[in-house]
Amino acid sequence: MKKFSIVIAGGGSTFTPGIVLMLLENLNQFPIQKLKLYDNDAARQSTIAEACKIILKEKAPGIEFLATTDPEAAFTDVDFVMAHIRVGKYAMRELDEKIPLKHGVFGQETCGPGGIAYGMRSIGGVLELIDYMEKYSPDAWMLNYSNPAAIVAEATRRLRPDSKVLNICDMPIGIENRMAQILGLKSRKEMKVRYYGLNHFGWWTDIRDQNGNDLIPKLKEHVRKHGYTVPKDDADASWSDTFLKARDVYALDPDTLPNTYLKYYFYPDYVFEHSNPEYTRANEVMEGREKFVFGECQKIIENQSTQGSKLHVDEHASYIVDLARAIAFNTQERMLLIVENQGAISNFDPTAMVEIPCIVGSNGPERIAIGEIPQFQKGLMEQQVSVEKLVVEAWITRSYQKLWQALTLSKTVPSAKVAKAILDDLIEANKDYWPKLHKEDVVVR
Ligand code: NAD
Ligand code: G6P
Ligand code: MN
Repeated sequence: MKKFSIVIAGGGSTFTPGIVLMLLENLNQFPIQKLKLYDNDAARQSTIAEACKIILKEKAPGIEFLATTDPEAAFTDVDFVMAHIRVGKYAMRELDEKIPLKHGVFGQETCGPGGIAYGMRSIGGVLELIDYMEKYSPDAWMLNYSNPAAIVAEATRRLRPDSKVLNICDMPIGIENRMAQILGLKSRKEMKVRYYGLNHFGWWTDIRDQNGNDLIPKLKEHVRKHGYTVPKDDADASWSDTFLKARDVYALDPDTLPNTYLKYYFYPDYVFEHSNPEYTRANEVMEGREKFVFGECQKIIENQSTQGSKLHVDEHASYIVDLARAIAFNTQERMLLIVENQGAISNFDPTAMVEIPCIVGSNGPERIAIGEIPQFQKGLMEQQVSVEKLVVEAWITRSYQKLWQALTLSKTVPSAKVAKAILDDLIEANKDYWPKLHKEDVVVR
């Protein structure tokens, strides 16, 4: 079997060790020649890289390994770029979450004003990775899960339409794992799903087992009472709240099963009231996942061994291997991807980046037709996709006005006045990351 070379961009990510361990678990179906880590923060990446080097030495000494901040070394001679960068890191995520709270609006990594701010930072970073890939390995594919995926995907559609980039999100997979537990199935792969929406903004309409039996009634019964909470739930406090809140999200449209992120659009007042302006998810992640991952890597380095390490395979990231295998071996796997609509949802903007099932093979994804969607979803999606398009338009044209419109249009922001106040604070906080916006034609009365 051919062996593949991979670069993980955002090598210093908290998710890198789990993904590396997951890749090593899957070598029999996805053999690796060379594994490289690339980051623009050498110090952050080095802890993760040193630990990964020891992991590889123990588990797969045949794989060549390199960690670098040099784009040429990183992107030369690779088949896949697995991208999960966070431009501005947790320090900026914390501001994305805390600035809107000062103005009475919740702050979140990918939704509402926080997601818009992160989008304005991410676009340039992700485009840079695509350009490195195309310069040094023109035949490679990028599997991108850098957030905010909806905005990043729209930017790639606008600015790199011919690039081999696949945008993907793990939230439906996380929820489907929970559904499988609720149903008593061994794996989410025993379910065949129909789903549509935007990234972090979608609905399941049909879920069946391999024999075609409808699994939706049993799931609805559970979600109506418990959301996506499962027995022995070990999620962080904020995620537990989100999984439970799915029952209120579900209540709004009992014909479908919702993505958890819809809570930010249907219950923004609830989310705001339950936010602590001094301690947001960024703080929870910095004290939790980041401390844990970097601490465990440090221990591996000190011991020069993984013995006793609590780092574990990120099973739920196996969708990344599935996607790479679909391209590499033409598996024709059915997967949810963020792709240009092009008529798949027949009564929706053909240029919208939508999240729908696709069949993936060597030549990329083929969309599965969804047909017409109901007025409720269509209305919500038109508003949200317009926000995402306006953010990208603002980034391209450096327009203050467009970004103000994007914030005002977001269902999560109550007025143009509040949108402007948030925007002005975000501009100040993001001055090292956002393009400079032109304000000349703004008229404020
Ligand atoms: P993290 O801050 O731990 O890691 C991100 C890394 O990216 C850092 O080491 C940082 O130095 C690096 N980086 C930032 N800008 C860069 C650039 N321009 N070039 C190269 N490297 C750069 O963050 P994390 O919490 O581990 O998350 C990583 C990313 O994965 C985030 O964007 C997160 O939202 C995303 N993510 C997406 C999904 C999904 O469903 N699509 C799931 C999980 C995580
Ligand atoms: C889910 C989403 C990702 C998001 C992550 C946030 O997996 O699909 O897009 O980045 O949650 O997780 P965090 O633990 O960083 O808040
Ligand atoms: Mn996601």
